[in-house]
Amino acid sequence: MAGLIPQNFIDDLISRSDIVEVINTRVPLKRKGKEFTACCPFHNEKTPSFTVSENKQFFYCFGCHAKGNVIGFLMDYEHLSYVDAIESLAADAHLDVPHEDNGRTNRNTEDKQPLYDILRQASELFQQQLKSSERAVEYLKKRGLSGEIAKQFKIGYAPDGWDFLISRLGKSKDHLHALSKTGLIVNKENNKTYDRFRDRIIFPITDQRGRIIGFGGRILDQGEPKYLNSPENTVFHKGFELYGLYETKQALRKIERIIVVEGYMDVVALAQNGINYAVASLGTATTTEQIHKTFRTTHEIIFCYDGDNAGKKAAWRALENTLSVIRDGMIAKFLFLPEKEDPDTMVRKEGKDAFEQRIKDATTLSEFLFEHLKAEADLNTKEGKAQLASKAKKLIEKMHNSLFKDLLIEELSSLVGLSQQHLESKISSADKLNVPAQKTAKPIRGQQVQNNKTRIAIALLLQNPALASQHKVPDNFKQAFTKGLPLLYELQKIIESNSEISSAALLERFRDNEHEKALQLLSMLQTPETENTDNISEVYRSLIERLHYEDREEYFHHKIENNELLTDEEQKEYLELCTK
Ligand code: UTP
Ligand code: MN
Repeated sequence: MAGLIPQNFIDDLISRSDIVEVINTRVPLKRKGKEFTACCPFHNEKTPSFTVSENKQFFYCFGCHAKGNVIGFLMDYEHLSYVDAIESLAADAHLDVPHEDNGRTNRNTEDKQPLYDILRQASELFQQQLKSSERAVEYLKKRGLSGEIAKQFKIGYAPDGWDFLISRLGKSKDHLHALSKTGLIVNKENNKTYDRFRDRIIFPITDQRGRIIGFGGRILDQGEPKYLNSPENTVFHKGFELYGLYETKQALRKIERIIVVEGYMDVVALAQNGINYAVASLGTATTTEQIHKTFRTTHEIIFCYDGDNAGKKAAWRALENTLSVIRDGMIAKFLFLPEKEDPDTMVRKEGKDAFEQRIKDATTLSEFLFEHLKAEADLNTKEGKAQLASKAKKLIEKMHNSLFKDLLIEELSSLVGLSQQHLESKISSADKLNVPAQKTAKPIRGQQVQNNKTRIAIALLLQNPALASQHKVPDNFKQAFTKGLPLLYELQKIIESNSEISSAALLERFRDNEHEKALQLLSMLQTPETENTDNISEVYRSLIERLHYEDREEYFHHKIENNELLTDEEQKEYLELCTK
């Protein structure tokens, strides 16, 4: 089980990312004075009322009142959960999201570094070896690859022999340990070791940050196995990685679609022919994690499989896994190639344009789904219809609630002749079943921030967290009489424990809190006080002082009105207040 994501990581991530950049890659923004604007992606409009503030790192729509920080934007725009939004942002920043698992996290990352190091060194050696092996170079040429593409994909060659890597890299016990942990060398029973990859073309597999985590090695001639892969280890988890994803991200800024293929050579051959947005699922069925990962990078996936039975089967598995991931705005299609062809042979035969035409004409998920189900059932009989409905029900149940799901139910309804309402009552919702911690909007009650001075003070502190160290909020704000002051105190304490926190990160701490909405509004509040950047510190100081004074006054008056006695200390304080 993944543990909690440490709060300081989230703070740091938000401070590092730029909301303007994040939004701009999804919704092109125009600069307008200090802000950026666009037509709002959350409601239909012709004139832009969606604004993004670079200073404040927030977005706000004057039309539909959508608002939030960078994480909120990703959640709303890409239909992501909170954790997925953080993952997505982290992936863009090439960061791994740490999870707090009883302090094991740090040790784990430290353990991994020697593995990354040895994998990188091995890859460099393999690349060098390719240059000096005429046979390997000839092989790649024969397969239509240029030196440039080989370089881009860091393709290498592992020479024949049993101890190439050991002799070059096995210099110490630690190095040997790392070689063996990554599976680059294989341990024999008699304490001897030998190289796993021998006389093979080497395809390095990289993670999202471009670190090499494993290899695939293809035999040059005929032989078994055709491909040999790194074994799973602490840095390489097959079902999570996609060959070529890093290279795709490097090549393209805006990724309109990604084509998922089966083989290393397919990815590389497509890139060679100008289709530089292909990834491969490393010889396994495409997992939900891989689909998740791909949809974090693009909104359209085309699964491309051979037209044979094995290809159809693989495609169906991908469809099943896609259903549990897909949300509105995401598109999945299926491209079946003619028998005996794979993307490599196909693109080399007919070139980029023809291949891209196939991509355009690919079968939609719903077409594939219903065609497949129809082929298995006799729709002329009630029994056949019931069989189809029951199979479809199982599949649709995997889905998140979405318009797309509604449309599939509608299509199913017209196919089998049961009303949509009836079907909906039979189909349980994945969202109800397995998503326990969904956000529920809480009404803002209790401490509403009413006093205008309090609102301005909170806005100032929220928008300029550095003020907390310049003018400390008095301790008695914690139990203050005036509404809003305890909140100001809470903000002060959070900033004190993390002096570098940005306002967007500060706001993030209040997600799902009763004050979330109020704070979001205050974070965007513009008043003469918040806009007067020259003496914001002084304005804040005098506000705090004033609030303190008024709060104590309220408190004393309240006590006096209720005939409660003031303590000696309080009497003194009261007299001082009165003479101010
Ligand atoms: P294919 O057999 O379709 O290979 O396997 P390919 O990509 O077309 O290879 P070429 O064109 O003959 O060079 C597809 C993928 O399945 C995995 C590899 O990831 C391969 O790219 N595979 C295949 C293995 O892991 N081991 C094997 O022995 C074969
Ligand atoms: Mn092939």
